[in-house]
Amino acid sequence: MCGIVGYIGHREAVPILIEGLKKLEYRGYDSAGIAVLKDGIRIEKQVGKLEFLEQELDGKIFTARVGIGHTRWATHGKPSKNNAHPHADCKGRFVVVHNGIIENYIPLKEWLQEQGHKFISETDTEVLPHLLEHFYQGDLVTAVQQVIAKVRGSYAMAALAAEEPDKIVVARNDSPLIVGLGENENYLASDIPALLKHTRQTLILEDGEIAVISARGVKVFGREGQEINKKVFEVKWKAEQAEKHGYEHFMLKEIFEQPKVLRDTLRGRISDDNAAVVLDEISLTPEEIKNTNKIFITACGTAYHAGLVGKYVIEKLARLPVEVDIASEFRYREPIIEPGSLVIVVSQSGETADTLAALREAHRQGAKVIAITNVVDSSIAREADEVIYTWAGPEIAVASTKAYTTQLTAMYLLALHFAGIRGTQEPEEIKRIITDMRNISRGVESILASTEHIEAFAGHYASCEDAFFIGRGLDYTVAMEGSLKLKEISYIHAEAYAAGELKHGTLALIVENVPVVALATQPALLEKMISNIKEVHARGASIIALALEGMTEIEEVAERVIYVPKIHPILTSVLTVVPLQLLAYYMAVARGCDVDKPRNLAKAVTVE
Ligand code: G6P
Repeated sequence: MCGIVGYIGHREAVPILIEGLKKLEYRGYDSAGIAVLKDGIRIEKQVGKLEFLEQELDGKIFTARVGIGHTRWATHGKPSKNNAHPHADCKGRFVVVHNGIIENYIPLKEWLQEQGHKFISETDTEVLPHLLEHFYQGDLVTAVQQVIAKVRGSYAMAALAAEEPDKIVVARNDSPLIVGLGENENYLASDIPALLKHTRQTLILEDGEIAVISARGVKVFGREGQEINKKVFEVKWKAEQAEKHGYEHFMLKEIFEQPKVLRDTLRGRISDDNAAVVLDEISLTPEEIKNTNKIFITACGTAYHAGLVGKYVIEKLARLPVEVDIASEFRYREPIIEPGSLVIVVSQSGETADTLAALREAHRQGAKVIAITNVVDSSIAREADEVIYTWAGPEIAVASTKAYTTQLTAMYLLALHFAGIRGTQEPEEIKRIITDMRNISRGVESILASTEHIEAFAGHYASCEDAFFIGRGLDYTVAMEGSLKLKEISYIHAEAYAAGELKHGTLALIVENVPVVALATQPALLEKMISNIKEVHARGASIIALALEGMTEIEEVAERVIYVPKIHPILTSVLTVVPLQLLAYYMAVARGCDVDKPRNLAKAVTVE
């Protein structure tokens, strides 16, 4: 996720671009850059937060009336000046800013290099200006059309040509792009907050659309090149609401972003026929994967819970023993890591001190380390031998939501990759799971389409002091994450238990009306789960059950039921956690808690 802006009109472009980028810093902040057009293209970039770019520009004179800008959240290539946008072609005649991922950039880059194009960055984006250079015949719009016919993936991009200073050409597919309309001046941005200071009149571009933005007006064209008469959308949000896209909190916004980031994390990682996972970023040879005899997973907080799901799915699919440790325990417990062991560390930020120390302990004992992380070039990404990036984009709320579900996705990909190579599952079974994986984001969408009942349940239980989460197998691991979400943002005391373990002690805590959230999504364990629910129900607990659509027998034992769409039982974790995130969120809101910044907690814990 990155932020892009653009301006064309009668005013000085640079301050408008910088101001716009400031409103988009939440979309990424590891480097930034601008390009303006006046007697040729001029590019300025800087690594780090936007303020460093501002310092770089301080005192420089531009007097340009057209320009584009970018704030980056690295995906391909570490944060560096060369990797920062805007990117140019060989002769500096074309310049592009881009948000998204060009999936087929490697063959395109090779093809362009064969024709003599010189690349200076590790980014996927750089193919775009070089493709423009290749196709350009005096008309930027036609060249952009030819470029997007060549590329696969997601993009919101804006392009300038030195020879056509009267326009910015933009295109969109699967990444947001908005045009802002002014008086003899027009704007573009990834998101509304960047425009609000100047205008509330906008055109929201759809996938496949191209817009030509000049000072006098904006023309929008569809996939076939036909001109489209777009409806003007008037933004009614207040400025501070807009940053959260109209959501009251970043946490809620991030919960609702999950369908998109789940698609992003899968993008380019499964074969077109759904038969196999394509994890090109993993350089472990099939031999090494076959010879692996044990896996350790280590992480903290929510990432640890993703590790617990990882154990479940890797053991089940790839038939490899997995040990999961909290990183602060792993680093001191002298784990026995023998030849053939592989260590997986999971971290949203890639900077958590205990997880980094656990990684170093694994290296000290000679193990190979795979990192699953969300931040390109973070310490953990740099030190690990292999990295699987989650494409969740920046997560602002302290309570992790979209990072967790993308971590789960990475775990599933890894487990299926190993299972395929080790031959531990029938090809048809792998295909069935992969096919369902493609549908997960739609499943999450359908959960998010109606949340009123979850909000109502949250209102009902908001004043409770204790809550319990129970489940078996995969459901137990998700119960732990649901319980953590609730305690960290609502301050309600919450515990998760393996449902079968309750009777060995915890049942003593079950009293009249205490809420018990019972996860019952595993068909093979449903009968056992129903017995466990009856045990707590008989002691007066108030049951909220989570089940797959169609499992109506659960209604006989639960007061309230939340259904999630049917999916292969091994994949349910990504779906079941979403109502639990919402339940915690609405309960915390009902209690008046500071949802995005819960007391005593920090987003990235870089001290022991
Ligand atoms: C902090 C955050 C948690 C997060 C944990 C691990 O405690 O508040 O949300 O799960 O750190 O962070 P990491 O960045 O390593 O995933």
